[in-house]
Amino acid sequence: MVLKRSDNCGELRKNDVDKSVVLNGWVSRRRDHGGLIFVDLRDRSGIVQIVFDEAALGADAFDIAETLRNEFVIAISGKVRARSADTVNPKMSTGEIEVVVNELEILNKAKTPPFYIQDGIDVDENVRLKYRYLDLRRPEMQENIRLRHKVTMIMRRYLDENGFYEIETPMLCRSTPEGARDFLVPSRLNAGQFYALPQSPQIFKQLLMVSGFERYFQIVRCFRDEDLRADRQPEFTQLDIETSFLDQDDIIKIMEGLIKNIFESTLDVKIEIPFQRMSWQEAMDRFGSDKPDLRFGMELIDISEFVKGSDFKVFNSVLENNGQIKVIKVDDYANIPRRELDNLVEYVKIYGAKGLAWIQYTDEGVKSPFKKFYSDETFDKIKQFTNAKTGDLLLVVGDKASVVAQALGELRLEMARRRNLIDENKLCFVWIVDFPMFEYVEDEKRYKAMHHPFTRPRAEDVDFLLTSPDKVRADAYDIVLNGVEVGGGSLRIYQRDLQQKVFEAIGLSDDEARAKFGFLMDAFEFGTPPHGGIAFGLDRLIMLMAKRKSIRDVIAFPKTQSAIDPMSHAPSEVDDKQLRELHIKSTVKKDTNK
Ligand code: AMO
Ligand code: AMP
Repeated sequence: MVLKRSDNCGELRKNDVDKSVVLNGWVSRRRDHGGLIFVDLRDRSGIVQIVFDEAALGADAFDIAETLRNEFVIAISGKVRARSADTVNPKMSTGEIEVVVNELEILNKAKTPPFYIQDGIDVDENVRLKYRYLDLRRPEMQENIRLRHKVTMIMRRYLDENGFYEIETPMLCRSTPEGARDFLVPSRLNAGQFYALPQSPQIFKQLLMVSGFERYFQIVRCFRDEDLRADRQPEFTQLDIETSFLDQDDIIKIMEGLIKNIFESTLDVKIEIPFQRMSWQEAMDRFGSDKPDLRFGMELIDISEFVKGSDFKVFNSVLENNGQIKVIKVDDYANIPRRELDNLVEYVKIYGAKGLAWIQYTDEGVKSPFKKFYSDETFDKIKQFTNAKTGDLLLVVGDKASVVAQALGELRLEMARRRNLIDENKLCFVWIVDFPMFEYVEDEKRYKAMHHPFTRPRAEDVDFLLTSPDKVRADAYDIVLNGVEVGGGSLRIYQRDLQQKVFEAIGLSDDEARAKFGFLMDAFEFGTPPHGGIAFGLDRLIMLMAKRKSIRDVIAFPKTQSAIDPMSHAPSEVDDKQLRELHIKSTVKKDTNK
C-alpha cells in the first residue's frame, strides 16, 4: 500500500475545501459519464463522492478507474473541492463537497455481491445471514453495531463510577433452575457427565456477594434452549448486576441513572426519572400484560356488573365460574367491517379465549351479538362507564381472569397496530413491581417460582408460603420499555431456612434441593449479606434504541428462528471419533445422501 489514509470519507466538510487527502474505502456506487467517473466511496464513517476526470488524470490512470466495480477496495489521493450549487446533495452529510482524484490504487477487487450494500434493502433474511459479513457492511447495520458498542462503553463507565467490579463467571456450569431448557456440553474427561451453558450467571453472582464484592456487573452471554421469536435468541447478552446491602429502591435508582445516561448520551432524547412504577396486579388488570405498552391507552375495562344476571348464558356461566367480562374501546371504529370482526374472533382464540363479542355504538343505534339480552339502558350505562361515544367500538371477552388478560391484552396491541395508534417516537418506561412469588403450573399440578426460586418473598407475605402460595408476593421487579421486558431482577433470599421453605413450596424436596444447589445453601451459612440485583437484555435494549423489530438486527452474528447459522452452518454433524471421545452416541441416522 503506497497511499496512506489521511481522512475518513464521511467526515469531510466544506471547510476542508482545497485540502489534499488520502482516502480508503469501498466503491459503493459508480457512474460513468464518459471522460468523467463519479464514485461514492464508503468507509466506516460514511460516504463521499470522488471524481475521476480523464483530462486531469491522464488516459492510463483513467483506464484503471474504468475497471472499478462495486465493493472494490481502493485508496485514492485527491483534493477536496466545493460542489457547484446545482450539484449539492443535501441528503448526504458530505454533500457539499467532492474529492477530485489524482491517484488511484486498487487494493482489492470484489465479486458482485448477492445484494446491494445499502440501507433499506428488501432481501430474504436467510440470504442476509448467509452473507452476514456483507450485510454488516451496510450503513444501517454498521450504525446498530456502533450504537451497541457505545452503550456497552457507557455501561462500563457508569458502573465503574458507581463502584461496580466487572467479574467473569464460568460458561461451563452445572444446570441452573431457570425457566428454559439447558444447552449441554458433554465432558470428555468425566465420562457420562455434562456441563450446562449458563442461562444466566444467577448463582455465581449471588456467590460473589457471599464473597464480599458488594457490587458486581458483567456483560455476559446467556444460553437458553427455548422456542425463538423476534426478541429471543438461543444465545443473547445480559448486562448482569448484583449488589449487597441495598434495598429495592436503591437498586432501582442506580438503574434509572444508568438508563438515563445511556439514552441521553447516545440518542437525542431527554429521559425523565424516576420512572413510573406499577404493581403486577394493576398491569394485568389495566393492560392484560405484565409488560404493558404505555404508548397508548385502550385499557381493559370490567363491565361484569352491568351484564350480570341476564338471560345471556355465555356471560352468566363465565360470572358463575368467578370469571370476568372485560372490554377494550377502539375509538371511531364502530363501522368495523364484519369480515374483520370474524377475523378478530379467530385472533383471540389463539390466546385461549372461547369467543369474542362486541358492541358497536353507531348512528343507527347499538349493534351487538348480545343486544337482545339487555335493555337500551344497560348499553347506555356501559357507554358511559367506558367513556365511549357514538362511533366507537367495544370488543368484549368473558372468561377466567388469566384468559381475559391474555386475549384482550394481545387484542389491545393488535388493534393499536391496525389503527396506527402507536407513536414510535415515544419512550415509555415502567417498573413492574410486586410480582406474585409463584405461578401454578396446570400440567404439573404444582407451584413454580415466577422469577426464580432465589427471589425473596415480601416480608409481610412469608407466613403464607406453605399455606397459600397464591398470596405471596415477591420483592421482584421488571423494567419494561414500550411493551418489551428489557430487564428483570429481585432481592434474594439470604437465609438458609427461608430458602428451604421456598424450595418446599415449589415441591423441591430437601434431597433434591441439596443435590441441585447444595453449594449455594452451604454458602448461605457462612455470613451472606442481604443482596439483590437485576439483568438487562442488552439485545432488546439496543433493538428498541435502534427502532428495530428484531434483536437479530443488533447482533453481529445471530441465529435464525430455527436456531441455525446459515453462514457457518452451525449446528452441524460431527465425526464419530469426536463423539466417541465424548462418550456419546447419536440416535439419529446419518443422512448418507449428503
Ligand atoms: P431474566 O430471565 O428475566 O432474568 O432475563 C433478564 C433479561 O434478559 C432478556 N432475555 C432475553 N433476551 C434475548 N433472548 C432471550 N432468549 C432472552 N431471555 C431473556 C430479557 C430479560 O428481561 N438472573 C435473572 C436476573 C436477576 O434476577 O438478576 C435473569 O436472567 O430482557
Ligand atoms: P355462542 O353461544 O358460543 O354461539 O356465543 C354467542 C355469542 O357470544 C358469540 O357470537 C360471541 O359474540 C359471544 N361470545 C361467546 N363466547 C364469548 C366469550 N368468551 N367472550 C365474549 N363473548 C363471547
